[in-house]
Amino acid sequence: MRSILYTPILFSLASAATTSLDAWLASETAVALQGIKDNIGASGIYAESANSGVVIASPSTDDPDYYYTWTRDAALTAKCLIDLFRNGETSLLGVIEEYIDAQAYIQTVSNPSGDLSDGLGLGEPKFNVDETAYTGSWGRPQRDGPALRATALIDFGEWLIDNGYEEYAAEIVWPIVRNDLSYVAQYWNETGYDLWEEVDGSSFFTIVVQHRALVEGASFASSVGSSCSYCESQAPQILCYMQSFWLGTYIEANFDESSRSGKDVNTLLGTIHTFDPSAGCDDSTYQPCSSKALANHKVVVDSFRDLYTLNDDAAEGTACAIGRYPEDTYYDGNPWFLCTLAAAELLYDAVYQWNTVGEITIDSVSLAFFTDLYSDAATGTYSSSSDAFVAIVDAVTTYADGFMSIVQTHAMTNGSLSEQFDKDDGYQLSARDLTWSYAALITANNARNAIMPASWGETSASSVPATCYATSATGVYSTATDTAWPSTLTTGTATTTTSTASITTTTSTSTKSTSTTTSTTSTATATCTSVAVTFDLIATTEYGQNMFLSGSISALGDWNTDDAVALSAADYTSDDHLWFLTVDLPVGTSFEYKYILVESDGTVVWADGDNESYTVPTACEAVTVDDTWDS
Ligand SMILES: *[C@@H]1O[C@H](CO)[C@@H](O)[C@H](O)[C@H]1NC(C)=O
Ligand SMILES: *[C@@H]1O[C@H](CO)[C@@H](O)[C@H](O)[C@H]1NC(C)=O
Ligand SMILES: *[C@@H]1O[C@H](CO)[C@@H](O)[C@H](O)[C@H]1NC(C)=O
Repeated sequence: MRSILYTPILFSLASAATTSLDAWLASETAVALQGIKDNIGASGIYAESANSGVVIASPSTDDPDYYYTWTRDAALTAKCLIDLFRNGETSLLGVIEEYIDAQAYIQTVSNPSGDLSDGLGLGEPKFNVDETAYTGSWGRPQRDGPALRATALIDFGEWLIDNGYEEYAAEIVWPIVRNDLSYVAQYWNETGYDLWEEVDGSSFFTIVVQHRALVEGASFASSVGSSCSYCESQAPQILCYMQSFWLGTYIEANFDESSRSGKDVNTLLGTIHTFDPSAGCDDSTYQPCSSKALANHKVVVDSFRDLYTLNDDAAEGTACAIGRYPEDTYYDGNPWFLCTLAAAELLYDAVYQWNTVGEITIDSVSLAFFTDLYSDAATGTYSSSSDAFVAIVDAVTTYADGFMSIVQTHAMTNGSLSEQFDKDDGYQLSARDLTWSYAALITANNARNAIMPASWGETSASSVPATCYATSATGVYSTATDTAWPSTLTTGTATTTTSTASITTTTSTSTKSTSTTTSTTSTATATCTSVAVTFDLIATTEYGQNMFLSGSISALGDWNTDDAVALSAADYTSDDHLWFLTVDLPVGTSFEYKYILVESDGTVVWADGDNESYTVPTACEAVTVDDTWDS
């Protein structure tokens, strides 16, 4: 058999190449971790003017000026640090606590996107390093930030719970997370700017990280003795919408952006940040080893092969330098470190999943991906004891290492990683010491070593509803006031040998945060412009039937049945046939409405009788409208 002859050759090449890559990664991961610490206020050497716990994007203040904190970049970085902490890097405890305290405060800062009262301010993409609002024009809102921050905080909250600190998970972490989950549940079905801050539309990365956040949010809520019905009602609908991004051969990066191919590392990043090490190769959540994610990896990577001189027309199946998307013109369009690392990380994650699942399935969707790497590839399922399985895992690992080696080649000799490297000569470009580049290096290296993050519950959240609905649900927004970390945390399971400095800064943070939260308490009681109106409908239904609300205002679809809003059956029991829906409506609005029952086959049944009418009260208090279905 050819593969027997072929495998040893591959193996010897791989081991020759990985020796120097292994050595480089051993030192580079330390440089990267220091690079992250240097970029976090107030003790980071490049972030001294930033407030405590504020993660700057880069020390670069000019061409480009990245000396701000982005909610997305900061959250991805914090998640990386928390995973390192959970794997034994105990000295990071102080900086993690400071990050969380800073987020509790930043959530309350009114900004051009809005404020906390109706959650809109949470969609603001970036803030000044002193935690004041950035008021210049920008691509806003960006709806991935709250989801990613929730994911990072839940990661730490789960550690607290696992280590006997439930009360701090409940009192400090949960109120911050709840605001972000409320935001996602309420606004996921509205457009916003993508992670590259250019396209105003619906972005794959944003949608998938929102799904993940609500799934783990529902479970975290119950772990802290609370609940998140709005997470439970919206997560399946986000999953439903996620399916529409699959175009047949690859994943569309952004709807509402017709001038591009839609091929974009946005989709690779979406997959690695929603990877669940406990999951199988599920297409519905685009897991790394799924046929869709692998087919998409090939299409996206191939779109860069002929684009850069640096890639010298690298043959399919060999690594090449990867940028954001082929049509990119920012800095004239170049490869990025974090994008090239994402191409590697996805493959390492897939290898981990194949090893866990114990087999590789090749189907018509993924065949082209496999053929590039293993010329004998054919559709079918290969168990871990087969030669094909072993050969494919070797080839994919070698391919992934190739992307890492490209990063190694273009890193500075002292290990620094900027944002981009020149497509022609490979020299570093744009923002220096980019925090996200360092986080991406660390997470890719962990995946390479099969050091995996915790599961987020994908296995119970991957089944797609039969029908997708445009929905929204309202949660709870409140100022997170408790940010005083107990000193006992530092004597918990984590060892304290190297954390002396961190403990000292933690104490001063608590003082700062207490005073800032006092001054912002008024934010929560500001005059409201909208009120949460809950419609409680008692309706006896059968499995498969769904209730909707239609009405004369845009929030209820302007009487258009296609735009009617779904009610939730999350609280429906055999004793209480309750369907409910909460919508934020401008105070004083008068409108007519009517309920609709949709049968499992899609048949629409309107409620009998006249239209109902309602006027939203002007007092800033949530109200409930009680109705009964009588058809
Ligand atoms: C809202 O959800 C519906 C149903 O999945 C989908 O058709 C629509 O495109 C979504 N719109 C946005 C902006 O997310
Ligand atoms: C590496 O050198 C560059 C340019 O001199 C400098 O900006 C950067 O901070 C250095 N990085 C490290 C990790 O020392
Ligand atoms: C409810 O209002 C809509 C829109 O004005 C109208 O078409 C419909 O006939 C009304 N239904 C009843 C029962 O009056």
